Amino acid sequence: MIARAFTGAFADRVETYRRRVDERLDTILSSGTTPQRLLEAMRYSVLGSGKRVRPLLAYASAELCGVDAGVDAIAAAVELVHAYSLVHDDLPAMDDDDLRRGRPTTHRAFDEATAILTGDALQALAFEVLCTDEALSARPDRQVRVIRWLAEASGPAGMVGGQALDLAAEGRRVSEAELEDIHRRKTGRLIRAAIMMPSELAELTDDERAQLDVFASDIGLVFQIRDDLLEVEQDTATLGKSAASDIDNEKSTYPTVLGVDAARARADEIHARAMRALKSLGPASAGLEWMSDFILKRAY
Ligand code: IPE
Ligand code: IPE
Ligand code: MG
Ligand code: MG
Repeated sequence: MIARAFTGAFADRVETYRRRVDERLDTILSSGTTPQRLLEAMRYSVLGSGKRVRPLLAYASAELCGVDAGVDAIAAAVELVHAYSLVHDDLPAMDDDDLRRGRPTTHRAFDEATAILTGDALQALAFEVLCTDEALSARPDRQVRVIRWLAEASGPAGMVGGQALDLAAEGRRVSEAELEDIHRRKTGRLIRAAIMMPSELAELTDDERAQLDVFASDIGLVFQIRDDLLEVEQDTATLGKSAASDIDNEKSTYPTVLGVDAARARADEIHARAMRALKSLGPASAGLEWMSDFILKRAY
């Protein structure tokens, strides 16, 4: 594999990639056959805001792997699943939050039933996007492997399973090992999938794929540890979501289980381990390195 080296910093391509995925999402969410209120809620939940971390990871991984065709569909699909997970995560029966991405949550802006259906629709749409993309459909064997990553990351062993464990752990003090498992599932798996899906379109050796997977799994965990820390360090206005949500819901988080300083040290340590795996893949990994730095240091 490992790919044509891009010239210039990944930072200079971030806006282009963000535009690419946003244009694709806008097209996907323009269907004339979707009931109007549902479509409005879907567009409200996906478009116009959000850091687009998972799509950007997919593009950075695509750079490493030297692939481009089919990556817009992958980037859009992973963001659709992510947006669905946020809409459901905020529901009264889950984290019961009123603010997301600096705006009222979907069930607040619309209503609870519409928010449930919006999540359902976004999830199904993600898989439709992967099944119908022209570039992916030209290589059906690889297309199935791409779809499998997203399905496993989203489902009972991945994000949904992690959400179930997260809810079951409310009001209870969990061990670090249990918390790590929850975080790897509820957040880490989708981030891992964003990075691994483009690799299915490329010729990687078994060892390269294994190293990429070590990196992808660990950086997903770093993302959620940082998310826990941000609720302690940052204000609601900057986060665009409630900075008191974890406390209100008596969640176990890295800061509550380890303490703030030890949680920061743990994030640094796992980030360093992720970087060792990534560096073994050579200079084309610069985009993923830039994204990893953002994930560790982000302030929102
Ligand atoms: C928030 O994810 C939810 C988690 C999985 C921790 P992001 O921080 O990526 O949220 P957006 O997409 O930028 O709103
Ligand atoms: C979100 O976890 C995980 C998913 C949406 C799958 P959190 O509940 O900790 O994230 P925020 O703080 O609401 O974004
Ligand atoms: Mg939650
Ligand atoms: Mg939440």
